[in-house]
Amino acid sequence: MAESGSAKLTLPVGGIEKTIELPIRVGTENEPAIDIASLRAKTGYVALDPAFVNTASTLSGITFLDGEKGILRYRGIPIEELGAKSTFVETAFLLIYGHLPNKAELDRFSLMLTRHSLIHEDMKKFFEGYPSTAHPMAILSSMVCSLSAYYPDPVDTNDAEQMEMAIGRLLSKVRTIAAFSYKKSIGQPFVYPKNNLSYCANFLNMMFAVPAEPYEIDPEIVSVLNLLLILHADHEQNCSTSTVRLVGSSKANLFASVAAGILALWGPLHGGANQEVIEMLEAIQRDGGDVQKFVNLAKDKESGFRLMGFGHRVYKNYDPRAKLIKTACDRVLAKLGISDPLLDTARRLEEAALKDPYFVDRKLYPNVDFYSGIIYRALGFPTNMFTVMFALGRLPGWIAQWKEMNEDRSTKIGRPRQIYTGNLVTPYVDIASR
Ligand code: CMC
Repeated sequence: MAESGSAKLTLPVGGIEKTIELPIRVGTENEPAIDIASLRAKTGYVALDPAFVNTASTLSGITFLDGEKGILRYRGIPIEELGAKSTFVETAFLLIYGHLPNKAELDRFSLMLTRHSLIHEDMKKFFEGYPSTAHPMAILSSMVCSLSAYYPDPVDTNDAEQMEMAIGRLLSKVRTIAAFSYKKSIGQPFVYPKNNLSYCANFLNMMFAVPAEPYEIDPEIVSVLNLLLILHADHEQNCSTSTVRLVGSSKANLFASVAAGILALWGPLHGGANQEVIEMLEAIQRDGGDVQKFVNLAKDKESGFRLMGFGHRVYKNYDPRAKLIKTACDRVLAKLGISDPLLDTARRLEEAALKDPYFVDRKLYPNVDFYSGIIYRALGFPTNMFTVMFALGRLPGWIAQWKEMNEDRSTKIGRPRQIYTGNLVTPYVDIASR
């Protein structure tokens, strides 16, 4: 990475004004950064940046995002092109290995995902222990973590074959675990993976087939599922990805690191928003459908209510993923002959918010979660599976980021500092005297 000059910082140190120089680093897309790693050693100061609103936690060559212009690229390739031309498996390879696979590489990678789709039979017993009301994200995270109990050998991250095996197992088995957790929640028998099906078709079959009758896999549904998973596949240093990196920086194994990422994703301000969006749209409908009332509620800070599926830490423009999902949504509903009143409510809500000065001034636009739930509903996924679908999509990104971090010899354990605001030294008081 280019070092491009330095920034001068003048600040009081021990009562005397001191000027230091900090290196300026510039990324390939000309994003400039001040490298403050030596700040404390040189001055005694640390940088305070709660919620990392202005902190780059790493260098990364995986995903480029320009939130002002609404640009998203994986390994340099625009998301729009990948959405139109690629498959989820190919995009996963691209993210993880850094280049589009040739035919032999793609065949080998696909074969890995096919071969490793079964989970250990003993793991099926775990599902019996959960109540049928268990949220599938709770099951998914526990099961992914449990994979480390079944594959306990440490993975040498410098050994390509060991890495390939761990990556293949994880990508393949998560799909089976997700489908089994759904079957458990509705009391249907598990449907085993089928090796003759593609990644997405296999998942749909495990989700929706039943032993009593044949299940026909609609290629249009397979295609839209590929698109949805591609659009979720990576988003640089978001909350769950940063969690995967932070946990992984302690040298925790891939399964444990990703399980932690799944839990971070579950929160309603992150991936859990797709479930919340549908619940919000249903609440608006139950209330009579007055979208302006809910826009007003979201503007009232006292209400504690936010428009779910709106706003983003980085995008200050229309989220490019939301644009693609909105178009796909219209296509899928038309193709399946579904008329979902929630889509109409969503459109009216978007229209009302986008012309409201509160949302305009704060540059709050629909994000990836705003329309995705409506497609998932049309495809037959229950609301509590939406965040699981997000996790399935985000998996290649988590793996790619974990791998990139482990391959970087300069990686250290992640360990932020703090500014202590508690008591000064305080004597212990015996219980009788309190
Ligand atoms: N509804 C109403 N007001 C909002 C919203 C919203 N959805 N989002 C942000 N604001 C306001 C916020 O109150 C603040 O106002 P003010 O400047 O007057 O204090 C301003 O906009 C900036 O918000 P912020 O909370 O400082 O922004 P942030 O970058 O910390 O939060 C966010 C980003 C995504 C958590 C937030 O926009 C939000 O809560 N959105 C709703 C939940 C959601 O849709 N999450 C999915 C995000 S995209 C997919 C993903 O990452 O998983």
